[in-house]
Amino acid sequence: MNLNLKNKVVVVTGGSKGIGLAIVRGFAAEGASVVAGSRTVSPELLALQAEFDVIPVAVDLAHPDGPGELVQAALDAHGGIDILINNVGSGAPTPSIIAVEDAEWQRIFDINLFSAIRATRAAMPSIVTRGAGAVVTISSLNSHLPAASLVHYSASKAALSSYSKALAEEFGPQGVRVNTVSPGPVRTPMWTAPGQFADMMAAGAGTTAEAFMDEVLPAAMAITTGRVSESHEIADLVLFLSSDRAANIMGADYVIDGGMHKSI
Ligand SMILES: NC(=O)c1ccc[n+]([C@@H]2O[C@H](COP(=O)([O-])OP(=O)(O)OC[C@H]3O[C@@H](n4cnc5c(N)ncnc54)[C@H](OP(=O)(O)O)[C@@H]3O)[C@@H](O)[C@H]2O)c1
Repeated sequence: MNLNLKNKVVVVTGGSKGIGLAIVRGFAAEGASVVAGSRTVSPELLALQAEFDVIPVAVDLAHPDGPGELVQAALDAHGGIDILINNVGSGAPTPSIIAVEDAEWQRIFDINLFSAIRATRAAMPSIVTRGAGAVVTISSLNSHLPAASLVHYSASKAALSSYSKALAEEFGPQGVRVNTVSPGPVRTPMWTAPGQFADMMAAGAGTTAEAFMDEVLPAAMAITTGRVSESHEIADLVLFLSSDRAANIMGADYVIDGGMHKSI
């Protein structure tokens, strides 16, 4: 399937690893010009820069000025933006809802919700001007599942999905397609980096991080396919939704979770 993404200018937030890196790789391989923001520029992102039209931007997207700086870097380099991927996000489990202090609520909302609000506010005028652009926002299955241990993450993602839906209503008539992707568990550094979720939960389950990701987690979460998603599978959906092959998909929220979510 030809996605017609060649020469499109794409901004990706959180592009140095995990799902964001896979999205950068996917767009770059399609011939798009990609500007990717993250605090650190990973070796994998540098390798993509060497091979494709990829510009890494070192920026703190939780800072109020960060998303605007990333968007400005894309405008300076390419003169306009066609596609914005609001991918950056972060979460941390809590033992109790009332243990989450204001500062932690704020931190989670800054990176999960306000980064997208600010990136969109900065990029949308250019996307509208280009005539046929797209915004894809990475929310989470947790936006539908307000788990107590991830209360602030889930609440921020529910707000993010609502924001994305409202964006579609306002900017859809101006030629910008706005959609959301809500993954279940995905094998990324958010889980697999040393000291992260897989290590923490594997210790509690008396197993290794690898066995936790491959066996314990899919079983505990009743994932129908028996495995977590891989980053490139999320990226494939994001690329399709960004392309004009998805021309009449607007304001949708696609769950990609191997069948974990059982309700309709
Ligand atoms: N993995 C999952 O199971 C899963 C499931 C559902 C939804 N999601 C969502 O998918 C998105 C990507 O998750 P992931 O699993 O790929 O996460 P990840 O592996 O932790 O990668 C996060 C990316 O965001 C960047 N980042 C984090 N904080 C930043 C900040 N303050 N400023 C700039 N960049 C920042 C990181 O780069 P630096 O560290 O270099 O800044 C990295 O590139 C998130 O929105 C997440 O909520 C993930």
